[in-house]
Amino acid sequence: MTIIVTGGAGFIGSNFVFHMLDKYPDYRIICLDCLTYAGNLSTLEPVMDNPNFRFVKESITDRDAVYKLFEEEKPDMVVNFAAESHVDRSIENPQVFLDTNIIGTSVLMDACRKYGIKRYHQVSTDEVYGDLPLDRPDLFFTEETPIHTSSPYSSSKAGADLLVLAYHRTYGLPVTISRCSNNYGPYHFPEKLIPLMIINALNDKPLPVYGEGVNVRDWLYVEDHCKAIDLVIHKGTVGEVYNIGGHNEMKNIDIVKLICKELGKPESLITYVTDRKGHDMRYAIDPTKIHNELGWLPETKFADGIKKTIRWYLDNESWWAPIVSGEYQNYYEKMYANR
Ligand code: NAD
Ligand code: DAU
Repeated sequence: MTIIVTGGAGFIGSNFVFHMLDKYPDYRIICLDCLTYAGNLSTLEPVMDNPNFRFVKESITDRDAVYKLFEEEKPDMVVNFAAESHVDRSIENPQVFLDTNIIGTSVLMDACRKYGIKRYHQVSTDEVYGDLPLDRPDLFFTEETPIHTSSPYSSSKAGADLLVLAYHRTYGLPVTISRCSNNYGPYHFPEKLIPLMIINALNDKPLPVYGEGVNVRDWLYVEDHCKAIDLVIHKGTVGEVYNIGGHNEMKNIDIVKLICKELGKPESLITYVTDRKGHDMRYAIDPTKIHNELGWLPETKFADGIKKTIRWYLDNESWWAPIVSGEYQNYYEKMYANR
């Protein structure tokens, strides 16, 4: 089995590469990643010498490069993680989100049509469903919930999802889609809530909470997401969408306070800043379908996962220190200086 994993130098993609090489020693895993600011080759260093692994630095939007790779590798499957993934960046500059997330997806699927494929899997997000109100804890996103996006990021992911389903219906491409809630764990880029708060707290810097901090996210440990995708690509039904979530809803402010407590840092570091434009209030996934059909359940409790994650950032400063001391400084200044 040869699988092209796009975006494998990013947060979830790298965790997925490790999971697959570990679990399937006879699979060949090709990571296709153009190494944007969010891609980090040092993350993949532990598998670079693995004979079953190949890294290819190209963009999923580069049709010639993608076709060449398909000719060389004749993949059985593609798992597409490659994306611009940060909502705040999409509010600043939507264009690259449309290029990568929509056009890139269509290029990959055109290659799948041209060269043939057993499965094209699109890694999508619960953000395509929009948000839920805080005063209706009885409501959850199911696979039937209408697409109703809020940000340029979620709109670009929804556009890609619609294209994936259209390629299935029109061309018979054997696709699956998974829509997951917020992930956390090792190798999470420090622009996102949990790693940003851990690293700022470690450096005794202000912890910038948007609005009142009451927005709710449904957190899932990244390994549980990888295991769910593994199940969907091997046992999921072609043409279907699977929601993935941990039934683990938490307010942002509670997460930030927990991080302060775990690190022994004062809550006085918490600073309330101007809210994100169009900020989604609550995400909550109903994962009944993937549980009933494929037997998936999240294995890591948040109380354990967050401890493991904080430990990982404490032990791996050599991974994040070069990130936060480089171009990231300019990003941070721009996004937070006058907030
Ligand atoms: P990330 O930003 O950490 O990593 C994205 C990776 O894609 C990087 O390695 C980057 O270099 C690569 N990439 C970007 N543009 C590319 C291009 N044109 N060609 C090739 N590679 C390119 O993202 P992540 O958090 O790991 O998310 C991975 C996927 O999962 C995304 O599709 C995202 O929408 C989805 N997702 C993320 C979450 C989450 O909580 N992080 C939850 C649900 C779904
Ligand atoms: O739900 C899945 C989505 O989760 C993925 O599709 C996205 O790729 C991923 O980035 C994530 O999106 P969010 O916008 O939910 O994640 P983020 O970490 O950016 O923010 C989480 C919450 O924390 C959100 O309510 C905004 C808030 N926040 C975020 C940052 C960066 C803050 O309060 N302060 C911050 O500095």
